[in-house]
Amino acid sequence: MKILVFGAGGQLGKALLGSAGKAGHLAMGLSRANVDITDADAVSHVICSDVPEAVINAAAYNAVDAAEDNRGLAFRINSEGAGNIAHACNMVGVPICHLSSDYVFDGSSRTPYREDSPVSPLSVYGASKARGEDIVRNIANRHLIIRTSWVFGRFGNNFVKSILGRLGKADCLSVIDDQIGCPTSAEDLATALFKILTTAHKTEAWGTYHFCGLKAVTWFQFANAIAMAKRLHIPDMTEIVPTTTADYHQRAVRPTYSVLDCQSVIANFGINVPEWPTALANVVDYLVAGNR
Ligand SMILES: NC(=O)c1ccc[n+]([C@@H]2O[C@H](COP(=O)([O-])OP(=O)(O)OC[C@H]3O[C@@H](n4cnc5c(N)ncnc54)[C@H](OP(=O)(O)O)[C@@H]3O)[C@@H](O)[C@H]2O)c1
Repeated sequence: MKILVFGAGGQLGKALLGSAGKAGHLAMGLSRANVDITDADAVSHVICSDVPEAVINAAAYNAVDAAEDNRGLAFRINSEGAGNIAHACNMVGVPICHLSSDYVFDGSSRTPYREDSPVSPLSVYGASKARGEDIVRNIANRHLIIRTSWVFGRFGNNFVKSILGRLGKADCLSVIDDQIGCPTSAEDLATALFKILTTAHKTEAWGTYHFCGLKAVTWFQFANAIAMAKRLHIPDMTEIVPTTTADYHQRAVRPTYSVLDCQSVIANFGINVPEWPTALANVVDYLVAGNR
């Protein structure tokens, strides 16, 4: 398939472009410098002039804390921008695959969130993603909305890079131990998205789905897994200590539990949901090798 990818400069966008060929697709990437998704005319022009077979929207305003003070911008990108893409896709009859987030949920559940669980975002970022979902659903006849969580990979900014950057530089790192979620490798997500898109093309199984890495953890547990993988290469003496959300003072409120139930994506698309520690080991090997 010929697939147009918005957000090509981000961590998922780069993973999509990097693995498209292997999956048998031709991906054309658009970064913000190429097209700003808040510019409806520019979005429409690029989709309508060289009509692809599918569009993936991996562009987003992802600064969860900063969004609290930049509500307008977060909504313009995550809601209206997504709508611009959905509108242009619908005009030319092209399906849109739009990425959304576990932060559309409020975390009050203690069992994994299903696709039909009620959304109730706690943050501006979460609200802007939930609104984006609604807009895409209402505009695009053929849509896939894929909610994911805690994305990490070789490229862009993410929690893995942040922990690696601090290990060995401080005596002690405090990491939140009362928010639970599922880390997701950008490469695993990219592979799954191609399979979902290809299958949906044949089966018309459009709709909303969850995809995340297997095994729920707290940020503290994830940080320890990162440190263990790193210390196989370069030992350090930094102690990782658990802290609470209440003591950490994040600007945005996050769900304390945002585990996504992936049963539907497994059943509909035959996706093998991978355990994230395998991908984590590869990403840490890659990043540590680059720093040696
Ligand atoms: N990262 C996570 O942990 C996480 C968790 C759950 C869901 N998701 C969702 O997964 C998707 C991919 O996330 P990601 O981690 O790959 O994000 P990312 O690394 O932050 O990449 C997002 C990309 O979108 C681009 N962008 C921002 N505003 C734009 C605009 N107005 N026009 C065009 N491009 C614009 C950014 O460009 P600049 O670099 O120029 O700003 C960036 O390259 C997003 O929908 C995100 O909400 C992510």
